[in-house]
Amino acid sequence: MTDRFLTRNIPRKREERKTLSFNDYVSAGGYQTLKQSLLKRPEEVVEIVKSAELRGRGGAGFPCGVKWTFLPDPDGESRYLCVNCDEAEPGTFKDRLLVDFDPHSVIEGIAIACYACKLDKAYFFMRGEWETQAKIVQNAIDEAYENGIFGSQGLMNGATDFSVECTLHRGAGAYICGEETALLEAVEGKRGWPRIKPPFPAVSGLFGRPTIINNVETLAAVPLIVEKGADWWKSFGCESSIGGPASYGLKLMGVSGHVNNPDVFEVPLGITLRSLVNDYAGGMKNGREFKGAIAGGVSMGVLGPDQFDAVMDFDIGPKYDVMGLGTACPTIFDEDTDMVAVARNIARFYKNESCGQCTPCREGADWIYKLLCRIESGEGSMKDLDQLLEVASSMGIIPGTTICGLSDGNNWAVRTIVNKYRAEFEARCKPSLVSGTSRAPENTNSVV
Ligand SMILES: Cc1cc2nc3c(=O)[nH]c(=O)nc-3n(C[C@H](O)[C@H](O)[C@H](O)COP(=O)(O)O)c2cc1C
Ligand code: SF4
Repeated sequence: MTDRFLTRNIPRKREERKTLSFNDYVSAGGYQTLKQSLLKRPEEVVEIVKSAELRGRGGAGFPCGVKWTFLPDPDGESRYLCVNCDEAEPGTFKDRLLVDFDPHSVIEGIAIACYACKLDKAYFFMRGEWETQAKIVQNAIDEAYENGIFGSQGLMNGATDFSVECTLHRGAGAYICGEETALLEAVEGKRGWPRIKPPFPAVSGLFGRPTIINNVETLAAVPLIVEKGADWWKSFGCESSIGGPASYGLKLMGVSGHVNNPDVFEVPLGITLRSLVNDYAGGMKNGREFKGAIAGGVSMGVLGPDQFDAVMDFDIGPKYDVMGLGTACPTIFDEDTDMVAVARNIARFYKNESCGQCTPCREGADWIYKLLCRIESGEGSMKDLDQLLEVASSMGIIPGTTICGLSDGNNWAVRTIVNKYRAEFEARCKPSLVSGTSRAPENTNSVV
């Protein structure tokens, strides 16, 4: 363990944290990598990020460098970068901490990504509720303009002819706007309704033009990778233990819930949940027993009581019967947590946040919430439990019934909680009505 985040300029101790200004960031070596990048050809920069096998930090874990190669060749018209700083996933607060204290690490990542991918306009999309962070990021963008990073003179005070403009765009507070195509609609000034894919944004994204969408943490990793090299990045993290793509690098993991020191920690991928809780988050609150954890944002589902040693990498989905690593921000539950109430609370979130385009998501979310309220109040039956699982299993991209993954999140959250804490749900059903042994179908996919 170190006293500071390994790579970012954010002290681990809360009392030492402050927002780094442009000058602070430059004093800490900031923007040197942008300068170095401009001496390389854009394709070389893409190649470094590709060979580092940096996987997206927004939830899906898609390889960043590979995504960048999907862009067509420039045709002289605008091409966009959309920076995803929506972070409305309950229990997730890593991106907020990043922009709170180190906004220029993201801005430098934006400038390098735009140069590498030949994108001339960046929209920094931020969650609507974040008043303080909007001011911080706007100020950082202004500083970047004042110091010649962005603007018509060309990147880095005209070190290249290629110029980039950057604009902060604030959302209106809908979770769905974090989904990349809903984000595009929102930036276009429309209602945040996800688009059917294909076409994929790299080909036809914002205003129908080639667009890359990346999470803020993904972009903040780019300057480090370009500066220190792909091998340095790959010296952190781990190989896949199931023959899949590796989980390299450092990752911001936020821990909340029943721990002594809830916070965001930068750790190598592959750390166990137990180590994250005990060695970083101060251990279980009041010395109580671990009962389970939301894996990484509610949409990933839960790790059960026997999964405290789960390895936090991109293999987590198939290995531990959750959807995936998601945002890698676990919420920890102690032995006294009522898992029926947890499920009901999560279902309420999805009921409120469904955008309403797809019937299985819109109607299913409402059904799930009502059924869980009934079971929680002791008025439910085994038939309700069966119906709950049936409805949940039918919702999402994986069963092929919805446009976006919001509904898969609802599906996985409900099914994993019921499967892993079945006895608690049955105990709430009316005794005379308990019969049968229904279970949710086994989870077979880990795709977000
Ligand atoms: C319902 C929903 C909400 C999402 N919210 C976010 C979000 O707040 N931030 C984010 O970076 N990605 C979010 N994503 C994932 C994005 O669609 C997309 O995969 C990501 O921004 C790509 O960036 P990355 O490759 O750098 O991870 C969400 C996905 C879904 C389905
Ligand atoms: S799955 Fe739900 S949130 Fe996503 S597009 Fe369909 S209705 Fe909207």
